[in-house]
Amino acid sequence: MLLVTGANGQLGRRVVAHLLARVPATELAVSVRDPGAAADLAALGVTVRKGDFDEPDTLPAAFAGAGRMLLISSAGMPHSVRLAHHEAAVAGAVAAGVGSLVYTSLSTASPASIGEVHRRTEDAIVGSGLRHTFLRNPLYTDNFLGGVLDESELVTATGDGRVASATRDDLAEAAAVVLSDERHDRPFYDLTGPAAWSQDELAAVLSEVTGREVTHGAVPAEEYARQLRAVDVPEALVAVLLDIHATIAAGGFAQVTGDLAELLGRRPSTVEDAVRAL
Ligand SMILES: NC(=O)c1ccc[n+]([C@@H]2O[C@H](COP(=O)([O-])OP(=O)(O)OC[C@H]3O[C@@H](n4cnc5c(N)ncnc54)[C@H](OP(=O)(O)O)[C@@H]3O)[C@@H](O)[C@H]2O)c1
Repeated sequence: MLLVTGANGQLGRRVVAHLLARVPATELAVSVRDPGAAADLAALGVTVRKGDFDEPDTLPAAFAGAGRMLLISSAGMPHSVRLAHHEAAVAGAVAAGVGSLVYTSLSTASPASIGEVHRRTEDAIVGSGLRHTFLRNPLYTDNFLGGVLDESELVTATGDGRVASATRDDLAEAAAVVLSDERHDRPFYDLTGPAAWSQDELAAVLSEVTGREVTHGAVPAEEYARQLRAVDVPEALVAVLLDIHATIAAGGFAQVTGDLAELLGRRPSTVEDAVRAL
């Protein structure tokens, strides 16, 4: 049996959809906080279990019988909560006797604050003795496209830094491929999009696709933070965004690998593909 945590989340829903195209629903199980929200999956024959990382006692039963399990990293905040979620999930997987664990990690070049959670989770998984595969995901292209069709200026603190992002859907498909095929039982994959792009290039693509002028407003980090605070972005998120933009500016997310293309058996979507799809 293949089991997916976070299956009601944006990535998890897509992973399950890609799995359903590959294996019978009766071989799939999901662990979710709200089983009612996964009633549509249950109707298809997927086993739906309640598992809450904040209630570690629920996890061994939620994960029982899983030959391979995909642990989708939690969205818990702050980072200490997220790490506690992951540690509880790893302990639950050990207690349940899960055969192998696939974990959605983050690019090893990731910035200090969020990257630290993933590095420590990887350490916990290695320390658990579980057979494992780390999917070191890049930034989602989707992160950069929220609301862009209404913008005339993309304000960032990324300078001319480039980012080899990939779409959430391509990363979900790759996770489904790894989970459902034991030939992909490798210690880690460094997943990236097919090319590293800059915000100037995104602005040019948006201009071309929408037919109106979109520019990139590159500002210093302090000014970017001021603008985020002016629209009441929570301080914890401001810190994460500054960290990510500084890392992009320094070239930390620019590396391109072939791992995602290899798993998908095709070229992953470019940022231009994603804008056109939007
Ligand atoms: N690479 C990137 O650019 C990027 C961007 C954003 C996020 N991420 C990471 O990738 C993960 C998946 O992304 P996403 O877009 O699918 O995010 P998402 O839609 O926010 O999904 C997060 C998932 O975490 C689950 N979760 C949170 N607290 C939990 C708990 N106490 N117990 C069990 N499950 C819990 C949520 O469960 P419910 O469905 O029950 O709420 C949800 O399914 C995120 O959680 C985050 O760690 C990466």
